[in-house]
Amino acid sequence: MTILTNEKDIRKIRESGEILKKVFSFVENKIMGGVSTLDLDIEVEKEIRRHGAEPAFKGYKGYPGSICASLNEVVVHGIPSADIVIQDGDIVSIDIGVKKNGYFTDAARTFSVGTITEEAERLIDCTKQCLTEGIKQAVTGNRVSDISHAIQNVAEKFKFKEVRMFVGHGVGKALHEPPEVPNWGQKGKGPVLQQGLVLAIEPMINCGTRNVKIKPDGWTAVTADGKFSAHFEDTVIVGNKEAEIIT
Ligand code: MF3
Ligand code: CO
Repeated sequence: MTILTNEKDIRKIRESGEILKKVFSFVENKIMGGVSTLDLDIEVEKEIRRHGAEPAFKGYKGYPGSICASLNEVVVHGIPSADIVIQDGDIVSIDIGVKKNGYFTDAARTFSVGTITEEAERLIDCTKQCLTEGIKQAVTGNRVSDISHAIQNVAEKFKFKEVRMFVGHGVGKALHEPPEVPNWGQKGKGPVLQQGLVLAIEPMINCGTRNVKIKPDGWTAVTADGKFSAHFEDTVIVGNKEAEIIT
């Protein structure tokens, strides 16, 4: 668990988050038809290093990429590949981790390419709202599952399904730290949130079944029914009145 109480450490993790934001503005413009996910990975790794930071995912439990690029029915952990070429109509989730000054930040966004279906638009909207409502609950004195419950509520309102096989997590001095932050649950359960606690909140929402399968590569998680999935993630610091979003 990373609980940041002094301004010096907060400045350090903010810098990590600032770099991650810049990397997203950079990669956003490169997501288009004809580009492979390996192209994106190579560009992102260069951009992270250009800022004097390191790609946090590369080598993590043997993961080969600097980004996860998860298209359409891929929920998370899509491995960058020259054979995966983005096309019009795709939704593309990009997940990136940065390590700078000893501090990790983790974020994900789902982008649309060209014209996508109305359902895919709604899915992206829903997942963004899940993240926004989850973050609103990341305040001192609440419990972890208040975040979870808020996310589940939004998913249900849209009649979509929150993925339960993967969860958000503590982050800061390592990429994955306690506590786990599920995307579903009843209010008022789990650890009490303390000011300064750093969390990665990351709803993954499916159009169809919530069930997920892992491909033989051991990483790529796809929806069991082949329908679309979206993913948004931010690293936040729990605060007294509101969380500070640092990515
Ligand atoms: N945001 C993802 C997560 O927290 C990224 C991890 S990808 C990995 O699970 F390759 F680093 F595992
Ligand atoms: Co994460």
